[in-house]
Order: sequence, then structure tokens, then C-alpha cells
Amino acid sequence: MERQRYKIAILGGTGAQGGGLALRLAVAGHAVSIGSRDAARARTAAAELAARVGKAIAGADNRAAAAAAEIAVLTVPYAAQRATVEEVLAELEGKILIDATVPLVPPKVGVVQLPEGRSAVAAIQALAGQNVRVVSAFQNVSAQHLGDLAHPVDCDVLVCGDDRVACDTVIALAADIGLSGLYAGVLANSAAAEALTSVIITINRRYKVPGGAGIRITGIPESG
Ligand SMILES: NC(=O)c1ccc[n+]([C@@H]2O[C@H](COP(=O)([O-])OP(=O)(O)OC[C@H]3O[C@@H](n4cnc5c(N)ncnc54)[C@H](OP(=O)(O)O)[C@@H]3O)[C@@H](O)[C@H]2O)c1
Repeated sequence: MERQRYKIAILGGTGAQGGGLALRLAVAGHAVSIGSRDAARARTAAAELAARVGKAIAGADNRAAAAAAEIAVLTVPYAAQRATVEEVLAELEGKILIDATVPLVPPKVGVVQLPEGRSAVAAIQALAGQNVRVVSAFQNVSAQHLGDLAHPVDCDVLVCGDDRVACDTVIALAADIGLSGLYAGVLANSAAAEALTSVIITINRRYKVPGGAGIRITGIPESG
């Protein structure tokens, strides 16, 4: 079956996680745009990423990038999550917002500290309203591995959302970049993926994992 190609804005794409996703999605043939608080910074980052993969990558301020996109990906620190969504909200109507935010609380990022014990991504769905199709994904994928195009990223991706069709779209995007996306339930279940990142950070430190550990769910049938 032919894969659908999308216009995808990476909000906060000047950073490590967004930059890595941008590279992989551009290689997969999607029309990627980097978003930033600063349009000039976005254009500079986009040009550097584009040069690495020989594909066109655009750059704009977060709001303009979201406006031009069919799908937006949020890759900003937890402290900036809510404000960034509020700024672009008017441009997200009817669109999928993939939120990769992990609510880490520095300096103890190896300790699970979910806001009120709940998913930070689910809070964004409550903020955005039902006209924005929020999907949680990529919390457990290492930015370092995403950015190293010399090797495939060897892990699964937990995909949570209240809109099953939107989740399927994100699972297909994960497959486009060589990752195995698994539907992991409603958006509230994103709490598990968000919490798992602190577990992975602890494992990375304890076992000195090169590039960062990832997760793999076993027992899924091939046709699954
Ligand atoms: N790094 C990883 O391996 C990894 C893995 C899984 C999930 N994540 C999650 O993905 C998200 C992004 O991680 P990252 O490592 O890429 O973060 P980052 O590099 O620290 O930040 C990403 C971008 O967010 C924007 N930003 C930073 N502070 C901001 C603020 N106060 N207000 C608004 N925008 C701000 C910046 O873009 P501009 O200055 O250009 O606006 C920055 O380039 C985080 O929630 C993280 O937990 C990261």
C-alpha cells in the first residue's frame, strides 16, 4: 500500500528530539517544516538539517509552521509545553498534534514526577479541546539515535490517544522512520510512556548505554 505523505511541522524542531524526528521524516519523504520561537533560528536549523539529508526542509516561527502543516509535532521541554500549544492553538483546528513531551523535573530527571500523577499530554488534550486530535508518541525514543542516520533506530514506540484513526496515522509515521509503533491505549495511558522515560534515563546512567536505551514490547504477532 502506498504511504501517505504529509506536511509536518516540528514545533521546537531546533532542539535535539525535534531535529532528529525532522531528519528521519524528511528522509521518508514528508514535507517537514521546523518551528521555533524565532523564525530566523528555525530557518538556520532547517538549512542545517536539509544539508544533512539532501531534502528541502522549511523553517518558520511555531505559529506559521503549524498553520502550514497538516500534522504538528511538539518537541519542547515540559516547562514550555503549555505556552507553546496556547500560542499555536488557533492553527491546530482539525489537525493531529503529536506530543512527545516528557514532564521531567530537573535536576532529578531519573525520578518519575508526573504532574498530579497524570499524563502531561492528556492535559494538552484538555487544553486544546476535541477539535485537536492529540496523540502521544516518541517519549521513549532517544534523540541521539534519531539524529544518527547511519543506523536504524532500534526500538518500539508507545502511541496513545483518544482518536484511534489519529493513532493509526502516527503508527504509520513511526513505520516510515523505521520504528514499530504500538497502540497503547487512551491518552491517559500516556502517563506510562512519560514515566518510563525517567526509568530509561536511570538505566542509561547505570549501564552507560551508548546513545540511550529504548523499549521493545515482546510477543506481538507479525500481522499484529
Ligand atoms: N532529547 C531526548 O532524547 C528526548 C527523548 C524523548 C523525549 N524527549 C522530549 O522531547 C521534548 C524536547 O526535547 P529536547 O531534548 O529536544 O529539548 P530541547 O532541545 O531542550 O528544546 C527543544 C526546543 O524547545 C524550545 N524551547 C526551549 N525552551 C523553551 C521555552 N522556555 N519556551 C518555548 N520554547 C522553548 C527551543 O526552541 P526555540 O528556542 O528555537 O524556540 C528548543 O530548541 C522534551 O519534552 C523532552 O522531554 C526528548
